[in-house]
Amino acid sequence: MDARNVEAEKPSVRAFSGARRWGATAAASFITAYALDLFATGLGLLVVASGLLSGIGYVEALLLLLASYVFWGSGLWAVIKANWALLQRTGACTNILAKAGHDLAVRLGWSLGWRKVAAYVGNTATELAKEAPYYIGAGGVALFSDSVSAIDAIVFLAGANAGAAIYGFALARGLGFFLARLAKRGVYASFDTEWEPGAYLKEYYSEIEPEERDTIAFFVDAMKDADRTQPALVFGVGPTLHHVFLAAEKVSEIHLGEYLPANLHEIERWLGRDPEAHDWRRFVEYTLECEGLDRPAPEEITFREEMTRARITNLLHVDLRLENPLGGEGPRQYATVISAYCADSATGDKSEWATYMQRIAGLVRRAACC
Ligand SMILES: C[S@@+](CC[C@H](N)C(=O)[O-])C[C@H]1O[C@@H](n2cnc3c(N)ncnc32)[C@H](O)[C@@H]1O
Repeated sequence: MDARNVEAEKPSVRAFSGARRWGATAAASFITAYALDLFATGLGLLVVASGLLSGIGYVEALLLLLASYVFWGSGLWAVIKANWALLQRTGACTNILAKAGHDLAVRLGWSLGWRKVAAYVGNTATELAKEAPYYIGAGGVALFSDSVSAIDAIVFLAGANAGAAIYGFALARGLGFFLARLAKRGVYASFDTEWEPGAYLKEYYSEIEPEERDTIAFFVDAMKDADRTQPALVFGVGPTLHHVFLAAEKVSEIHLGEYLPANLHEIERWLGRDPEAHDWRRFVEYTLECEGLDRPAPEEITFREEMTRARITNLLHVDLRLENPLGGEGPRQYATVISAYCADSATGDKSEWATYMQRIAGLVRRAACC
């Protein structure tokens, strides 16, 4: 039988949270809002003062305004997407309402898709609200000043929209560079100092996300070929067990390898039936369904939980930065190795990732041939 080593892909998402994230978001929101105002107002005034468009009529001015809104909208869209990527990676972003929407959605246990919607809505609402002063300002000046015509006011708004769009694209580009730098610098420091197992479990495992449904179904299928007489290793298990239940019936023992002691401690809580430990029953139920059981009964779920507890015989400290990631603990190789979202989380550097993947693959013992 072929040994298995399956590393699934997941966006590089983190459960780093806390006051620092809120502080950074508040500061970034404040600074970027003022920088946007300055730049957009400056460009709007510059376009009017330059007199470049002084001869245009109402229709041209309104068409210009319309076009500027399309431009503004695309700049806004770039920022919204960049903020979402930043939120996913760091838990902070440059728009406080986007973070508020996202964090509230997490608290309410909404799915990843709805959290994204909440963050997008928060971001869009702020940007729309920021438009109001421009209208009030431009409309007021046009109404009450003889030297500023309605066309001047519309040209100002179009210029300000263009400024906001340019600013949006520049900010999105800047955030992209920032994320790339974060990825290049690696994430060990963050894992070591800021990872919160509880926040991670709450954010990603309060319910079964669609991508996780596919991953579990994939692993269940892959495990059909596992060697039942041999132990299996789940590498980079985190504080989770959703990829462990599916191995319980298929192998002789299960060893769980994890880099962070706090994550292993979370697993120990579940093993010790701590009432505060994460509830995995919905995941066990889904695993059983993937295995072909129609509507598993509560006793069947409990039975699989108990079987899993009995099969887990070893908790190992592992580190992909080491030549031997098991660091001399446990067997050197396993007939079955499961690793999900680990190597891609441990580094943002592609060649390092390839090395890590080779190290994980190196933990798989080749099946004796024929
Ligand atoms: C996104 S989590 C994935 C956890 C779990 N497999 C899951 O599916 O949710 C990434 C895991 O990689 C682990 N990790 C980070 N740096 C590592 C390293 N240098 N060596 C091994 N694992 C590491 C983290 O502790 C974390 O548990």
